Order: sequence, then C-alpha cells, then structure tokens
Amino acid sequence: MSRFGQVLRFAASLYGQKAVIGYHGLVRRDPMAQIQMRQGRENPYPIYDRMRARGPIAPTRMGNWVTTSHRVCNLVLRDRRFGVMEGRQGGIDLSFLEMNPPDHTRLRRLAQPAFSPRAMSGYQGKIEETVGHLLDRAAQSGRFDLVPAFAAPLPIAVITDLLGIADADAEAFAEYGRVLGSAIDGVKSLGHARRLIANDAKLRAMFERLFALRRNDPRDDIVSRIVAAEGDQIQPYEMVPMCTLLLIAGFETTVNLIGNAVVALMDHPEAWKDLCADPSLAGQVVEETLRYDPPVQRTFRMALEPLEVEGTPVRKGQFFVALLGAANRDPEVYERPSTFDIHRENPVDHLAFSSGIHYCIGQPLAQLEATIALRMLAERVPGLRRAGNVKRRNATTIRGPIHVPLAC
Ligand code: HEM
Repeated sequence: MSRFGQVLRFAASLYGQKAVIGYHGLVRRDPMAQIQMRQGRENPYPIYDRMRARGPIAPTRMGNWVTTSHRVCNLVLRDRRFGVMEGRQGGIDLSFLEMNPPDHTRLRRLAQPAFSPRAMSGYQGKIEETVGHLLDRAAQSGRFDLVPAFAAPLPIAVITDLLGIADADAEAFAEYGRVLGSAIDGVKSLGHARRLIANDAKLRAMFERLFALRRNDPRDDIVSRIVAAEGDQIQPYEMVPMCTLLLIAGFETTVNLIGNAVVALMDHPEAWKDLCADPSLAGQVVEETLRYDPPVQRTFRMALEPLEVEGTPVRKGQFFVALLGAANRDPEVYERPSTFDIHRENPVDHLAFSSGIHYCIGQPLAQLEATIALRMLAERVPGLRRAGNVKRRNATTIRGPIHVPLAC
C-alpha cells in the first residue's frame, strides 16, 4: 500500500476509535474511556478515585487490567515477567524505551553516562544561564505566557546542547522535536499524519549529518559516544531512534513538570509565598509536583508469561495499565493525597519516573532543570500571579498546560 493509502486507512480507524471512546465514556460511563475525553484531560483525578473505589486491580473493556494502586504499579513495573511491547508504538521508534533485555540493557548502558552526576554538574551552569536569559526576556514587559516563553525553550536548549546540535541547526531541530512530540498520544488527524511522515525524513537527515560530523571530529557528547560504539554496542539502524528518544523525552516532559509546578503554585499562594521566602525549597516543590500532578500519567506492561498479581490471574500477552498519576495519590501511601503540600516529611517515593528497569534515565536532568527554573522564578519574579485562564494540552498520557498567562 502507498504511504498515502496507509495514512488514509489509519485516519479512518482513528476517527472510528474516537467514536468508540465517546460511546463508552458517555453511555457506558467507562472510566478508562472518560480519562481520554475532555473531562479527563482537564482533571483525571476524580475519575481515578472512582476507579480506586472498585479495588486496586480492575479489568478493562479491552480485556486487560488496570491499577490505581501505588503498591501494584510498583510490583508490576519491577516484575521481570512483565515487559514492554516491542517495536513501534504510535508510529515512532522509541529505541530502548520499547525494548526488553538484553537489547534494553545494552542500549540503556550506552546512554547512561550522559546523565551521570559528573555530567549533571557540567550542565548546571548552562541551565542557570539559559534560565536567566529567558527570564530577563519574559519578565521585561510585565506579562508573559509561561509555556512558550519559559517552560518549553529551557528543556529544548538543554537537550539540543546535550545532543551536540550546532546552534545554526537548533531552530529547525526544535521544530522537528515539537512535531514529533505531538505524536506521543497518537496521531490526531490526516494532516497530522502527513506532517509526521515529512518530519521523520528531515529529522533523520539531520541526525545522519550529525553522526558524520562526530565520526570525524568527536566531542564529549552523547552523539560522539553513540558513533564510537557503532557496529559494536549499537547497530547503525538503532542510532537515529536512540537520538529520537532522547529528543522527545527531553522536549515533552520537563516542560510539563515546570508548567504543572507553576500552575500548582499559583493555585496555592501560601506555597508560592513560602518558596519566595526560601528559594532553596525549590527541590521540594519539584518533588511534590511530581507526586501531585505528574507529567507522565500512565504506562503499561505486557505479561511475558502466565502469572498472578496479588491473586489476579494474568494471561500471557495481557496488558497491565499502571496509572502513575493515580498511584501518586493512593491514600494507602500518602496522607491527604489530594493536597499539594511542599512541606511533606519523608514522603514515600512517587512513581512519576516509573519504576524497575525502565526507570527514567533523565530523572537527574529533569529535576535539575525544574529546580533551577523554580528557584530563579522565585528569586527574580516574586510578584508572579495569574493573568488569564490556563489551557491544558489535548493529551492523556502526557499532562501539562500549553498556556499559563502570568503577570509579574
Ligand atoms: C519531568 C520530566 C520527566 C518525566 C516525568 C519522565 C518520565 C519518564 C517515565 C515515566 C519513564 C518510564 C516509562 C515506562 O516505564 O514505561 C521514562 C523513561 C525514560 N526517560 Fe524520562 N521523564 C522525564 C524527563 C526525561 C528527560 C529530560 C530525559 C532525557 C533527556 C528522559 C529520558 C528518558 C528515557 C531515555 C527513558 C527510557 C528509559 C528506559 O526505557 O530504560 N526523561 N521517563
């Protein structure tokens, strides 16, 4: 079938799926469908609570399992009898995020040094500098929109630097990343599918150019490490997907962490006041945001063999959906789970970065970026306040605002 034919067929099934979700959400009151509809995108937490009332593990209408429990999410994510579904999901090859051992182990090991403590201390200055520039520009007129002016450009600048993209290419690269990231929750229309296909080719060409450059002139960056391992620890066809994974993860997650944190702080003026009085609380604000309103709301695993989870029999090939956003508000684990409290004492680890072998490799970087961003916001613009309505992105897996109008 031609590529265009594939796109058409895909679009037909997409619009069919939307109708099915609407039917199950509105008519059958199925919570798994409701979290994918407008009310769930605005605020999934009341829906999670209704699901929790049915017990820690519940069947889905598709014949799989879903859990809202912190304990069960953790159990499933750490259990090696579960794995990820291998191969492309949503049309993009996401490298080792979608691989099981031993391939997962081999490729993850190659990327790991880019997120070591040594690497982090090297990024700190660059992040502070970028945050400073962005804040100077954003705050100049007294009003700005948090996401396009601050929360999005910061992680883009950091990941561009980390991958070693030349400044001259950075703008085009940022655009490719945005188009790619828009596919995380699935392709939304025929036009969207066409844009993705065209984008894919441009991005591939840019990475290929970068590989050639680093083969001849290696630097201390992740792409140089990848090309040095070519044919040995990584096969040529695995190189673009690995860079694509880092690009998407760098673009689409930290922006939402900063966005969700500022929205929570504006909703809780006493927390913002405390942060401004003591900007060293920024790390705690980041932790509590990750628990209270995590950017990645769910993930899933497939049973690689027949097994039982707390007495529930799971067949080989069945899926288990781990609702990370629900687990982080599990009343069995957290006191006052729906309260945003930046002063929580010894909180149990949240699951915002997942658990087990796919635990987010970028966690130290995301935390560093968000902590510096919040600390410097509190130091430089303590008069920050809402100046309009928050608009949330049209997505289910990823949660975050796209517009947060602010005055300072
Ligand atoms: C607040 C920001 C972030 C959040 C909430 C987040 C969340 C997650 C989660 C939940 C997973 C695991 C998914 C699963 O278990 O199925 C994951 C994996 C991953 N993340 Fe992040 N992430 C963030 C930032 C980043 C950054 C900045 C990078 C890199 C630049 C990154 C790179 C990755 C990679 C490469 C994986 C795959 C790990 C593996 O499969 O072994 N993440 N992330």
